[in-house]
Amino acid sequence: MAQLSTFARKTNTKLVNCLSRRCKMVSVAVTVQQVARPAPAKEIASCSGRQTYHDDMAKILYTEAAISQRVAELGRQIAQDYQGKAPLVLGVLKGSFMFFGDLVRAIEPCPRGLTLDFIRASSYGSGTESTGEVKLKTDLKREKVEGRHVLLVEDIVDTALTITTVNRYLLEECGAASVATATLLDKHERRKLAYRPEYVGFVCPNEFVVGYGLDFDEEYRTIPYIGVLKPECYSHLGIKAPEPDCSGESGGE
Ligand code: PRP
Repeated sequence: MAQLSTFARKTNTKLVNCLSRRCKMVSVAVTVQQVARPAPAKEIASCSGRQTYHDDMAKILYTEAAISQRVAELGRQIAQDYQGKAPLVLGVLKGSFMFFGDLVRAIEPCPRGLTLDFIRASSYGSGTESTGEVKLKTDLKREKVEGRHVLLVEDIVDTALTITTVNRYLLEECGAASVATATLLDKHERRKLAYRPEYVGFVCPNEFVVGYGLDFDEEYRTIPYIGVLKPECYSHLGIKAPEPDCSGESGGE
């Protein structure tokens, strides 16, 4: 028999004693379930003792309300542009998951034939700079894409290495009829490849942003707004804060 934790044994002994006493039962049959021994808890690095992700924000760049209003506008525009085109809306995971969920509901009135799928692309590893090598993972079959009008959904276009790679894959390998991109954030001053997304939520300043799907080392994705991390949250890794944006153009609230 597999191991039974001490906790489970003690708990069952107490339960039997209690039932016997209170219910005056002659015998109590208890089925003891196997309880797996828990793995030791992983150490969670904290930003100088701050307790929640919200405490790690230097500032909020785009509030939930601002995002929601902009997503509604984009959704209406996309609905108009794709009427009669039966688009394939393709989320680029993982960063786009929140924007994707909100955007597809905002594509109203929804064009007939619209379908959804996902592709996994990653290039950032655990740092704040792209590794330059974009890895794609997908089980998208060519027959699902061939001849379709594809709308890629991204959380951010930064150097544009990712979106360019996904674009090329869809057009050259999968035979898409057209590929356009809806991105919540466009950090165009960091482009390494020329690329202009068709639908942009906000032009983003050159700061390290997290939240609403965007992560730093897989953390902060679930925050419902987009914020800028305090430099001390990543300076211990030897990563410098990006130069602040002086153009005044952030496209924010
Ligand atoms: C992020 C983001 C975009 C990409 C943009 O993905 O979601 O896909 O970087 O950067 P680029 O324009 O410089 O290529 P990441 O590689 O961090 O993976 P993730 O989506 O799983 O967070």
